[in-house]
Amino acid sequence: MEFNVTSGNPEKQRSGCLVIGVFEARKLSAAGKELDKASGGFLTTLLHRGDMEGRVGQTLLVHNVPKTQCDRVLLVGCGKEREFDVNNYRKAVNIITRTLNDTGTTDAVSYLTDLDIKGRDSYWKVRDHVQTTTDALYVFDQLKSSTDKVRRPLKKMSLSVPTKGELSAGEQGIAEGQAIAAGMKLAKDLGNLPGNICTPTYLADQAKTLKKHARKLSVSILEEADMKKLGMGSLLSVSAGSRQPAKLIVMDYRGGKKGDKPVVLVGKGVTFDSGGISLKPGAAMDEMKFDMCGAASVFGAMTAITQLDLALNVVGIVPATENLPDGLATKPGDIVTSMSGQTIEVLNTDAEGRLILCDALTYAEKFNPAAVVDIATLTGACVIALGKHAAGLLSNHSPLAHELQKCGTVSHDRCWEMPLWDEYQQQLDSNFADMANIGGREAGTITAACFLSRFTKNYHWAHLDIAGVAWNQGKEKGATGRPVPLLTQFLLDRAAKK
Ligand code: BES
Ligand code: MN
Ligand code: ZN
Repeated sequence: MEFNVTSGNPEKQRSGCLVIGVFEARKLSAAGKELDKASGGFLTTLLHRGDMEGRVGQTLLVHNVPKTQCDRVLLVGCGKEREFDVNNYRKAVNIITRTLNDTGTTDAVSYLTDLDIKGRDSYWKVRDHVQTTTDALYVFDQLKSSTDKVRRPLKKMSLSVPTKGELSAGEQGIAEGQAIAAGMKLAKDLGNLPGNICTPTYLADQAKTLKKHARKLSVSILEEADMKKLGMGSLLSVSAGSRQPAKLIVMDYRGGKKGDKPVVLVGKGVTFDSGGISLKPGAAMDEMKFDMCGAASVFGAMTAITQLDLALNVVGIVPATENLPDGLATKPGDIVTSMSGQTIEVLNTDAEGRLILCDALTYAEKFNPAAVVDIATLTGACVIALGKHAAGLLSNHSPLAHELQKCGTVSHDRCWEMPLWDEYQQQLDSNFADMANIGGREAGTITAACFLSRFTKNYHWAHLDIAGVAWNQGKEKGATGRPVPLLTQFLLDRAAKK
């Protein structure tokens, strides 16, 4: 899809379709009023007939609007003007995108970017429109033998900004929106691919593919033998039960100054989590193919920053493995030694995410990081605590936590902080090793983060538990591409500060 920005009167736009917002009840937006005036009250007449109330998601496609240069006008309901917010904006953008794709037009001009949303400027509205439009057109049909192709799909979309002075901000919004959208698409594709295709080796190949298009990126893959040499006994205890070899994928992007400390992103890449010997129940176990969505979000963020040629040093680290039961698999009660030297009693083989992350987090030290953020579908408890709207956020450095929480608000890909108090640490006490890998029923998301915190003492660190936000269940089952927008915002802001 091609995007560009435009500013100017709607009645003068030559286009297959103009998209105009209508508020409840039957209230035209500013662009709508202009168009209405030029057409001699044509739209007002339609509204008076009662064909369009303005409720969120309502649409009305009209042809032959007099005295205009466009073939059609698509009116879209935006709800009450006073209540117009990011959620309603996204609903409207989503519906017009799918509607336009189903009509005969291949190009359109959207005036939804002109609508006022509290606290959001033209740059943001353009960026989010690009992101939401791309997201709305996403389909995952690469594994279907026949697909229904849209006959005349939408190919080109112009987004309006109210003044000429905002054109360059709009252009920046398009570039950054497209980069975020490309990152989200990759994250969704990787997430949606089944475990028999998206293996640790597949993820490693993905990193090599990324490298091909990015000069400033170097990629190295650590094999199990390399991990053994480094003493990554914890990570290897998870892959012990799998016939697919584990990979530690390192993507090193150097867009910043030579000596600048990098931001390190670490993504959990369990390509299928059966629970191992502590086998999960059968219901919905297929969804554990999404247990590499943390890794996918790191690939997504790396995609976005390479596309933008961002002036920042960023390292992406992905420990990738399956978690399966086998004669050689790790058993409850087994004790393993992590790269840090700390020993771990594996009381539950289904708490495998922390076992692979701890060694990747120790490995991250070698990059002398400015900050480390890990992203993981780590605990079912996080889904219970926060549901699907916010990722869990835990950190050993409150300025970093606040920075991430703010980036979540800006990108509307939100996270919410939970406490990482010392009092919770004792839940990880073990009679036989330095720590256990589980902390009991209470505060499962926090004790998981407590476990990780024992490996992140030498740098500023934050943990995002994305178990609730990374994929949708039910009829809409599929990866969401989150938290690529949050991570990209974080990296954009860090680059801007330099
Ligand atoms: N990948 C799961 C977490 C998960 C479960 C995410 C369900 C989304 C939905 C993780 O590896 C896991 O199994 N965690 C256990 C930890 C427990 C054994 C302490 C969990 O949450 O039940
Ligand atoms: Mn598990
Ligand atoms: Zn898992």
